[in-house]
Amino acid sequence: MRLITTIREMRDRVSELKLIKSTSGGRENQTIGFVPTMGALHEGHLSLIRTAQKENDAVIVSIFVNPIQFCPGEDFQRYPRQLEQDKELLNRVGGVDTVFYPDIKEMYPEGYCTSVDVKNLGNRLCGSSRLGHFSGVATVVTKLFNIVKPDAAYFGQKDFQQTVIIKRLIADLNMDVEIKVLPTVRDEDGLALSSRNQYLSREERQDALCLYQALLKAKSLANSGETDAKKIIKEMVNVVNRTQSSKIDYVSIVNPDTLEDVQEIKDGAVAALAVWIGKTRLIDNIILD
Ligand code: PAJ
Repeated sequence: MRLITTIREMRDRVSELKLIKSTSGGRENQTIGFVPTMGALHEGHLSLIRTAQKENDAVIVSIFVNPIQFCPGEDFQRYPRQLEQDKELLNRVGGVDTVFYPDIKEMYPEGYCTSVDVKNLGNRLCGSSRLGHFSGVATVVTKLFNIVKPDAAYFGQKDFQQTVIIKRLIADLNMDVEIKVLPTVRDEDGLALSSRNQYLSREERQDALCLYQALLKAKSLANSGETDAKKIIKEMVNVVNRTQSSKIDYVSIVNPDTLEDVQEIKDGAVAALAVWIGKTRLIDNIILD
């Protein structure tokens, strides 16, 4: 597994990969699967990497804690950076050709001033309390796609709004990348894996279960025929509020394409929530059938 830190070297490796000699001696196009991450890797990331391996000739993983997707006062400084541990994990999994690990100057050199903004979709849900966050995500993902030129890129359902925005970005800017969204990986007790779970104390780790419990409540109400979104949201709020250290940022049920609130549950509606557990903001979601 190579570790590449410059855009130039990354571009060279991508060109090499695309035209690796086939076993018959001729040259053929190799497909590249790409998994963008901010590191502090866990099973959620690994599930994306394993699928990328199955579906492509080569896999590239990026690790970059992207400063422009953090708002002032958020956890950019504190975000876990553990390259050695991440490399070990990736070596154990095997099959990753390259880790792209640029520094901030490499990605945003002096004079940098362009940003990509997916309007409307970026202002709802998480976007309303994290102003500019999704513009930061859309910008770095656009840059990474231009550098890695993947055939397919892999994202987790865990960050549902991010997947909707990236699909919109790809369509609107005619990017030639297939976007694959894979299910949320959870701990045994249901807590969605997240690099930010490292911030939780033992008690908070227990309290954090209220997110998944609220989603299960929504799912069971919808399954038993409840179609009134307001009623379901009220029940979800009750579940979260039973936990003392929790503070709700939002609890919503939205259309999976427009991210607009729905009044009536229809197939594909997504229940999503963001909750502060102490000083840690956690998100989760579930698709209501
Ligand atoms: P990060 O939070 O590191 O997540 C990288 C990818 O892993 C995202 O697609 C995310 O949805 C996925 N992921 C995280 N937890 C998961 C889980 N429990 N199950 C399945 N997939 C999970 O998301 C980002 O980084 C950044 O915004 C990024 C796209 C890299 C742009 O900076």
